[in-house]
Amino acid sequence: MKRYSRITGTGSYLPPRRLSNTDLVAQLSSQGVETSDEWIVERTGIGARHFVDEGIFSSDLGLEAARNALQAAGRTPQDVDLIIVATSTPDMVFPSTACILQNKLGANGCAAFDVQAVCSGFVYALTVADAMVQTGAARCALVVGAEVFSRLLDFSDRTTCVLFGDGAGAVVLEASDTPGILATDLHADGKHVGILCVPGHVSGGAILGDPLLKMDGQAVFKLAVGLLEDAARATLDKAGLTENDIDWLVPHQANIRIMQSTAKRLKLPMEKVIITVDQHGNTSAASIPLALDSAVRSGKVKPGDNLLLEGVGGGFTWGAVLLTL
Ligand code: ACO
Repeated sequence: MKRYSRITGTGSYLPPRRLSNTDLVAQLSSQGVETSDEWIVERTGIGARHFVDEGIFSSDLGLEAARNALQAAGRTPQDVDLIIVATSTPDMVFPSTACILQNKLGANGCAAFDVQAVCSGFVYALTVADAMVQTGAARCALVVGAEVFSRLLDFSDRTTCVLFGDGAGAVVLEASDTPGILATDLHADGKHVGILCVPGHVSGGAILGDPLLKMDGQAVFKLAVGLLEDAARATLDKAGLTENDIDWLVPHQANIRIMQSTAKRLKLPMEKVIITVDQHGNTSAASIPLALDSAVRSGKVKPGDNLLLEGVGGGFTWGAVLLTL
């Protein structure tokens, strides 16, 4: 009998410190950086974001999300035999955030590693976990997206610092006789490294190069819309389905205008698109599982629904996962 993987629980966590646009605009204004709630809402759809306090790391956010997902799945840390954490803001250079989270969770002994694909990280991690569950390498996987992007932001650059937030989301992915994950599609093109990156690196005890986020927003925007449509269509083709079979689009939450353009290209009404960017900002690898968990817990998304998850991010990386919940 074919072995599939299936999401059996979702969870998420946001750090308590919430900054509305008004809060952020006031903070930036006191530093001589001019922006406005109107500009941020009109160009991005973002109304608020959450930022961590000092001493809180991606593993701490991921831990809370993981606990919530395990509780929803009716599983304990001892049931978990694989942990994959998607993050571009790891606690340390090494070991992996997955190992740190594993120890905090008390799931010691299982396989644990990080995936680094920036905002496509969760789609990448879920695809890897799906493959490992299908082959029998894992039975009960914890797939986490966790980020503290506030640590990478240049608060003197108004074109980027208003866009991002911190948070974590997680799913429990288990072996099943019925699908589950129907199809996946991943891509990358390294020639676009320069349009979205944090170019600094550690060398000889110092950070060399700029350790803050750099983005050519318009270049990212133009690339993102086409690539997301391609990934969505490729995933549907692999599963032998069409856009009419999608109950919910759960896109990476970067910008409402990118989500609107993607929905339009797929001929999906906005009522079928899960949107949390207004409350979370762009939380990179955490954004899709955060959106998914919020849709599940609100009762919007129900067991049996077909979901298309899709992400795009630095690398450039992009991909999609089609699944039945
Ligand atoms: N407040 C006020 N004005 C601003 C701000 C701000 N925060 N930021 C830029 N502006 C100004 C610019 O200086 C410019 O002024 P000018 O016309 O006098 O030169 C004007 O607004 C327009 O700037 P644009 O860059 O053309 O604005 P645009 O409509 O392209 O929106 C944005 C910028 C929001 C960054 C958009 O390009 C975008 O969303 N791009 C995609 C970004 C994205 O999705 N990134 C993440 C994807 S991958 C990942 O998640 C890591």
